[in-house]
Amino acid sequence: MNYESISQSFSSYFNAKPKFIVRAPGRVNLIGEHTDYNDGFVLPMAIDREVCIALNPRDDETIRLFSLDLKSDSVFNLHSLTPSDGWIEYPKGVANQLLKAGYQLKGFDAVVTGDVPQGAGLSSSAALELATAKAFAMSSGFEWDAVEMAKLCQRAENEWVGVNSGIMDQMASAACKAGYAMFLDCRSLEIQHVPLPQRVSVVILDTSTRRGLVESAYNERRSQCEEAARWFGVKALRDVRLDSEKWKIESRKMKEERELVFKRARHVISENERVLEAIEVMKKGNVKRLGELFNESHESLKNNFEVTNEALNIMVECAREQAGCYGARMTGAGFGGCAVALVDDENVEAFVKAVETVYKQRSGLEASVYVCKASEGASQV
Ligand code: GLA
Repeated sequence: MNYESISQSFSSYFNAKPKFIVRAPGRVNLIGEHTDYNDGFVLPMAIDREVCIALNPRDDETIRLFSLDLKSDSVFNLHSLTPSDGWIEYPKGVANQLLKAGYQLKGFDAVVTGDVPQGAGLSSSAALELATAKAFAMSSGFEWDAVEMAKLCQRAENEWVGVNSGIMDQMASAACKAGYAMFLDCRSLEIQHVPLPQRVSVVILDTSTRRGLVESAYNERRSQCEEAARWFGVKALRDVRLDSEKWKIESRKMKEERELVFKRARHVISENERVLEAIEVMKKGNVKRLGELFNESHESLKNNFEVTNEALNIMVECAREQAGCYGARMTGAGFGGCAVALVDDENVEAFVKAVETVYKQRSGLEASVYVCKASEGASQV
């Protein structure tokens, strides 16, 4: 991101220098998919794509946001927040939650820009939410508590925007550390920063497909998981393990009577175990096994959780065939968007070119493939 040019855009739009520049990143989830709303484990890392806001505090309660990408201006007042539509609902939802939580907010003038692809499963909305929260922290002078802000932004997304997402994306955008992946226990919100393997690149593979109706399919998966938890008599699927008596006895009956619910549960429970194993093998530097876990995760998302689409399956196949690829899987909510691959540094350049070519041949679609850097959670520039 070119902060100098954002600062200049601010100056030419508002005729003043911005007092603050803040940013919050998108994320790629390495492993632990559809586990967050089951109180489970995830392993995202923040990426070097972000939402950036340059701002100047105001003396009143007006928020004026100029989107550099859309070349359009949006204005709202902190004390008469009313729902409308479009991207401005994210900042509005965050303001609403901050006010509800008792923060004293000041207005600001701002320009906003971002390079997280939208609808690709890289959390462009969480990045916008956390960047907004950070902008308020600067304009209003309150202390930044990453976990608190992540929870608040998730509530904004759930209640104001109306998307029933889990806590992973906001936690990743708020609390990741540069150079590390973040192991998160979504029940306790305890964090462990795990160093990324050496001499290995994390590559994002955008299929360029964006599927509609993601929300209803997402909510359907959530309720199937809740049904499974009730079946097992536990608070969340996090509380069941594949080697437990509970699973052995109950899952057989479930498979006969509620096959889909059984498949969903099998994905979540096995995925949680894969995340725990991923942490162990990363600590030992066993990239080969980490790659296998990526592959197993994808197969489970494809066959049990059924949230991949053809483009994602083709993409993952193209990636796995290339020299130096340890493993590949879809990432994010699914139904379209991106996959992620682990690739040996020595092969990565050839990998990017080959995947783009082979993917196009097989799918007829144009891929965007890029190596990404693990970056820092929301911060002031
Ligand atoms: C979306 C949601 C997250 C998480 C993932 C799937 O990104 O926002 O909370 O559930 O899907 O792992």
